[in-house]
Amino acid sequence: MKPQRNTPIFPSFFSLLKDNVQNSGVLNSKRKRNLKAELFNKKASDPINEPDEILHALELKTGQAIADIGSGGGYFTLRFAETVGVKGHVFAVDTNPDFLSFIQNAAKEKELLNVETILTKKDNPNLPEKSVDLVFMRNVCHHLANRPEYFKRLKNALETGGRVAIIEYRRTSGLSLHNLFGHSLSKETIIKEMQEAGYQLEKDLEFLPQQSFTIFSQESVPILKEASG
Ligand SMILES: C[S@@+](CC[C@H](N)C(=O)[O-])C[C@H]1O[C@@H](n2cnc3c(N)ncnc32)[C@H](O)[C@@H]1O
Repeated sequence: MKPQRNTPIFPSFFSLLKDNVQNSGVLNSKRKRNLKAELFNKKASDPINEPDEILHALELKTGQAIADIGSGGGYFTLRFAETVGVKGHVFAVDTNPDFLSFIQNAAKEKELLNVETILTKKDNPNLPEKSVDLVFMRNVCHHLANRPEYFKRLKNALETGGRVAIIEYRRTSGLSLHNLFGHSLSKETIIKEMQEAGYQLEKDLEFLPQQSFTIFSQESVPILKEASG
């Protein structure tokens, strides 16, 4: 007698999908997955993109307030929140509400109570006045339609002595996907537009393999001494 076959040789599409979903953790994890946010985090945390060195170069201090504009999956938001500690504050700012709820859940899981999410419009960071010591934008500026105007608006959100850190894929003459899809900006353009908006270049860091990394401060207004006599 032929043995009874219980398992089909060719599993149905639905059983494949079920296995895939179970293995990926969607059914097991309490947290709803967001593949795009996870992909952003995978890239941001990849040692090839030097996340620890980025953190080090930013010279963050305990108690500082940071805005991670275009926070994506929130890899840097959470690293900042751990670094500035309970007395500090981190705003995750994005135009995509799903990314923000992904970050909220991740912060809750890590018991990071100093993370606040802000849903924003394309042309406005929507941050409270004088609320942050550092604005961080990684792979975001190329999305902004009118960068000099946006950079000027950002100044309202900066505390005295506040800084803006910008990381962008370099625009190169070679063929690359970032260039092809317009997801890159030349460092010269960033510096020119930031200077137009009234910032000065503090640091031009060259350790990232594919990206420029510049840090700006607000241009100090010279104090005019009254002429005596
Ligand atoms: C390429 S991802 C970078 C994510 C994250 N900064 C990182 O390095 O992993 C760009 C992010 O910017 C957000 N974004 C695009 N335009 C924006 C805008 N005008 N204001 C705020 N966020 C924006 C997108 O929704 C997305 O989350």
